[in-house]
Amino acid sequence: MTLELAVLARDVGREAAAHVRARRPVGRVEVAATKSSPTDVVTEIDRESEDLIRARLLSARPDDGFLGEEGDSVEGTSGVEWVVDPIDGTVNFVYGIPAYAVSIAAVTAQGVVAAHVVNIASGEEWGAVASEGAWRWHDDERVPVVAPVTSQVSHALVGTGFHYTRPIREQQAAAAARLLPHVRDIRRIGSAALDLCGLAEGRLDAYVEQGLKPWDLAAGGLVAREAGIVIEGLGDTPDERLVVAAHPGIAEEYFSLVRACGF
Ligand code: IPD
Repeated sequence: MTLELAVLARDVGREAAAHVRARRPVGRVEVAATKSSPTDVVTEIDRESEDLIRARLLSARPDDGFLGEEGDSVEGTSGVEWVVDPIDGTVNFVYGIPAYAVSIAAVTAQGVVAAHVVNIASGEEWGAVASEGAWRWHDDERVPVVAPVTSQVSHALVGTGFHYTRPIREQQAAAAARLLPHVRDIRRIGSAALDLCGLAEGRLDAYVEQGLKPWDLAAGGLVAREAGIVIEGLGDTPDERLVVAAHPGIAEEYFSLVRACGF
């Protein structure tokens, strides 16, 4: 059943990614509105992508719920809720930086059970099913993804992101400045879903972010976890306050360091 959800997420995610690709004009994309702050933007194409995803998922499974970044949520009765970011990395999308993704997760009372993430610009795709592993799609073949071993925090390449509101940004910048001397380097790629899929397959060694919403975290979080990455928050559960993630080889030491740095 959960593999069916992952396959549906893939079909719909690919269609939405193709739509966004076709609709993106050359150059800078116009911003339609701002949200939590003047730098938190949305475009008409984010809204089109979300409308398409909602319509396709609920036409295939009319009793499911839906929670999307840009629209009204729909209460379901089936026990499955879709948690969707129609373009994760909207700022990259606006500027034409090729790191923005469609992120689709199916969530039940057990948590996130199936996920699909597609990098709209490159076409790279990742998926996962809870307790059944993570994979990268090569055409229609699922190639398992297992996070490579990382054993030294000092050699860790760390992904992060910054909140849209100024006081939290100031605190994050100070914490990142304290973290930087202890790790290999820091990357701010601009799409949490792609950061987490990158962590799953070794493009990053560790991750820290504050301010992630459920749609930023759900699908990429399952891909990372199923690839063997440990993900926590201030406690066991990652949430908007804090998401920390790393290979088990460094997780305990890295998580302590992150907290000591003031995240
Ligand atoms: C954003 C990206 C970014 C993260 C922000 C998110 P959006 O998603 O995932 O990497 O730092 O917190 O809001 O707004 O482009 O869908």
